[in-house]
Amino acid sequence: MANRLGLTLQHRLPVLSGYSNTSPITSFYHSNSVSSLSKAALKKKGDGGFNLKSPRRLVLGLGAAFWSQFMGMAGNVGAKSFIASARQKGAVEQVLKNVDWPEQFPFKEEDFQRFDETSDLTFYETPRFVTHIDDPAIAALTKYYSEVFPPSNTPGISILDMCSSWVSHYPPGYKQDRIVGMGMNEEELKRNPVLTEYIVQDLNSNPKLPFEDNSFDVITNVVSVDYLTKPMEVFKEMCRILKPGGLAIMSFSNRCFWTKAISIWTSTGDAEHVMIVGAYFHYARGFEPPQAVDISPNPGRSDPMYIVYSRKAST
Ligand SMILES: C[S@@+](CC[C@H](N)C(=O)[O-])C[C@H]1O[C@@H](n2cnc3c(N)ncnc32)[C@H](O)[C@@H]1O
Repeated sequence: MANRLGLTLQHRLPVLSGYSNTSPITSFYHSNSVSSLSKAALKKKGDGGFNLKSPRRLVLGLGAAFWSQFMGMAGNVGAKSFIASARQKGAVEQVLKNVDWPEQFPFKEEDFQRFDETSDLTFYETPRFVTHIDDPAIAALTKYYSEVFPPSNTPGISILDMCSSWVSHYPPGYKQDRIVGMGMNEEELKRNPVLTEYIVQDLNSNPKLPFEDNSFDVITNVVSVDYLTKPMEVFKEMCRILKPGGLAIMSFSNRCFWTKAISIWTSTGDAEHVMIVGAYFHYARGFEPPQAVDISPNPGRSDPMYIVYSRKAST
């Protein structure tokens, strides 16, 4: 039975806006104004603002446009409310089961707008030697990687960590001949011990990945897929540079630099984020059906952690 998630969620979105493992900051704002609550949220914390829950806007504008696109998805998740069940650990894994995707890419240009449209290079100019998720979430991600990565030191293996920084959260001592980091801050990338090389590139200005076709076995992207304003270009490029059967792992929590995250992300919750990333894989073409895994370590007590992954289809 296909998943009629969009239809179910549309009726539940105001409820969903409060769905979080910890209290979210709820705010109403428009693209050119911000409420006092949002202003409070903008105050910097130790990690430059990341350590804030993304403020949830009741979905009246862009989000509604987006979800109405998803109403076309066929199927039924049954009488039980998806959102009610999504509060249980592991329920987001159902989001990408049997989705009947609309034929056309359902997102609009405005879905990829951000509150702060100034240069990303300026935003990331100063290095942030911080972690953006808590230690249990990092440990869960590292454990996940240890289960799905090729064994350390396997000849011929190449890995790309997109949107990288001074940490990649790979298993301790993990090595391959080639581990490339792409990111926005050279000082951060220079300090990342797992990388064998790095490239500073603003993917929102230039989404072309500077690599040969079929050259990577694994691509990772940690808590950053929400900053991509041209995700289709980037995901098509990911598909191009992956070897057939190569694995792309997108991971995210419920935190972000919300002024730099795309509108469709800041206006929705965890379950929709899974659907959004799944859609990127689906509409990029060339990937196997995307799947979601909930690796949240202690639901309600530490940062949630979700994986959406797919493999490049073997031809
Ligand atoms: C929240 S940090 C996450 C860094 C790292 N993945 C981690 O887990 O600590 C967001 C990262 O997204 C990347 N990023 C943001 N905007 C970007 C852009 N326009 N082009 C390329 N990378 C970008 C930067 O490398 C930045 O370090």
